[in-house]
Amino acid sequence: MSLTYGGVYQASPAASHHVGECAEVPHYLTTHYWWAYVHPGAVKFFERQWLVNLILWGNYPRLRDAALAELGQRLPGRTLQLACVYGDLTSHLSARASAGGGTLDVIDVLPIQLQNLRRKLPADAPVRLLRMDSTGLDMPDAQYDRALVFFLLHEQPGHERQRTLSELMRVVKPGGTVVIVDYAMPRWWHPLRYLWRPLLARLEPFALDLWRREIAHWLPAGRPLRRVRKQSFFGGLYQKVVATRAGR
Ligand SMILES: C[S@@+](CC[C@H](N)C(=O)[O-])C[C@H]1O[C@@H](n2cnc3c(N)ncnc32)[C@H](O)[C@@H]1O
Repeated sequence: MSLTYGGVYQASPAASHHVGECAEVPHYLTTHYWWAYVHPGAVKFFERQWLVNLILWGNYPRLRDAALAELGQRLPGRTLQLACVYGDLTSHLSARASAGGGTLDVIDVLPIQLQNLRRKLPADAPVRLLRMDSTGLDMPDAQYDRALVFFLLHEQPGHERQRTLSELMRVVKPGGTVVIVDYAMPRWWHPLRYLWRPLLARLEPFALDLWRREIAHWLPAGRPLRRVRKQSFFGGLYQKVVATRAGR
C-alpha cells in the first residue's frame, strides 16, 4: 500500500501505520460529542450492534442495507466512506469492495475511531483508514467512483456540513454516486416528531437543521449534479439522499 497522504492506517493490524497527525479534532466533536466518539469509554460502550440499532429505533439494518443496495453488490474501483460508524456497516461495504476487486477508503478525524474500525475488519480487507477532516480532504479531485456518508451530517454545524458536502462532491468522479443517510423531519403524525425533538436538540444540537431544510440546501452550487433523489424511512425520521455528479 502506498502512503500518499497524511494520517494513514492499514486494515491489517500486523501492518498498521499511523502517519502524521494532520487533522485537528473539530470543536463540535470535543464539545458536543465527546461522550459518543472521543472518550475511550464511549467506543467501548457504543460499539454494540444492538445498541446502535436501538438508537436508530430498530432501523440500523434497514438503513444500512438501503445504503448498500444503492451502491451495489460488487464494488469495483474506488469507494469512499466518510466517517466511521459503529456496527457492521463498514464490514459489509468492505466485503462488497473485495467482491468487486475494488478498494475502500474510510476517513475519520479521530484516531480512536479508526483504531476501533481496524479491529472490526479482517486483516486482508482492501481498506485504507485515513485520518482526515471531512471539511478539508487532503487528496486530489475526482478520486472515487462512489461515496457513502452515514449519519455524519447531522452532527456538523452548518458551515462544516457545507464544506463536507463540497469536499465530497470534489473527490467523487463525474458520474459518480454519493449516498447520504441521515435524520429528517418525521411526518406530523409520528410520535417521535414530538418526543425525539427535545432530546435531539439537547444531545445533538445541529441535528434539527436536517428537520428544517433539505440536504440539497448544503450541496455545493459549483458542482453540477445530474440527479438528486430522496427516499424517506420510518415515517420520515430518516432519509437516504442519492446524488449523482454530472459529467460522464
Ligand atoms: C458518522 S458519525 C455518526 C455515526 C453513527 N451515529 C454511528 O452509528 O456511529 C460519527 C463519526 O464521525 C466522525 N467525524 C465527525 N466529524 C468529522 C469530521 N469533520 N471529519 C471526519 N470525521 C468526522 C467521528 O469521529 C465519528 O467517528
